[in-house]
Amino acid sequence: MSCYLLIPAAGSGKRMGSDRNKLLLELLGKPILQWTLEAAIAATAIDWIGVVGQPCDREGFQQIFDRLERAKPIAWIQGGATRQESVFNGLRSLPDHANRVLVHDGARCLATPELLQRCVTALDTCLGFIAAVPVKDTIKIVDAGVVTDTPSREYLWAAQTPQGFIVDKLIAAHERAEAQGWEVTDDAALFEKVGLPVQIVMGEETNLKITTPQDLAIAEFILKSRGNTHRSSDL
Ligand code: CTP
Ligand code: MG
Repeated sequence: MSCYLLIPAAGSGKRMGSDRNKLLLELLGKPILQWTLEAAIAATAIDWIGVVGQPCDREGFQQIFDRLERAKPIAWIQGGATRQESVFNGLRSLPDHANRVLVHDGARCLATPELLQRCVTALDTCLGFIAAVPVKDTIKIVDAGVVTDTPSREYLWAAQTPQGFIVDKLIAAHERAEAQGWEVTDDAALFEKVGLPVQIVMGEETNLKITTPQDLAIAEFILKSRGNTHRSSDL
């Protein structure tokens, strides 16, 4: 059964401190978004890719699309003011017959094709899932600078993307969120709010979200450890 992939890429990258969308910054000579797209193209279980972006980045994104080997369709979709709105726009742009969707942040450019493949398979047996890893740190609940609780680590997982869902269930959750004014930072949170189950798929420790300049340095180290070398982007 076909699986559709939405890539939210319509942020501005404020925490990166750069003057443009961080997804256009280069890692080993290639834009961050290109790394994400190459993994998605290599994951054969994904049939269609929708990249959600801001109009000001459209040309830059198109240049990346043109550079890629197009084994599957890549569509550009207009983003919104928040990630939530961007994903909702993406969902409304899916073809009517789309049944399964993965949502994967453009900023998680180190996710491997193997993880993406496993994620597609997960939708054979559940309505919704998130890739996640067990947390390594002890996490504290803090109020006004004072620790109020220490939740047991055995129940704590760090959420990543891909997250995947049966399309009509996720659209219904987004519609309800819009009607009720719910604001969340990932799609699974909407599934939880409407009372639907969210499974865990084991994520990858290296699947970090590029957020700050320090993350760029870590990502470069990980990519080099996988045998990648610096390439000129105009090759
Ligand atoms: N995103 C989006 N639409 C928005 C905001 C964010 O599609 N209106 C995307 C980003 O492009 C990114 C993903 O959601 O791929 C995760 O968001 P984040 O890492 O927070 O990226 P930014 O919002 O760009 O960064 P910042 O919060 O530092 O501004
Ligand atoms: Mg953000």
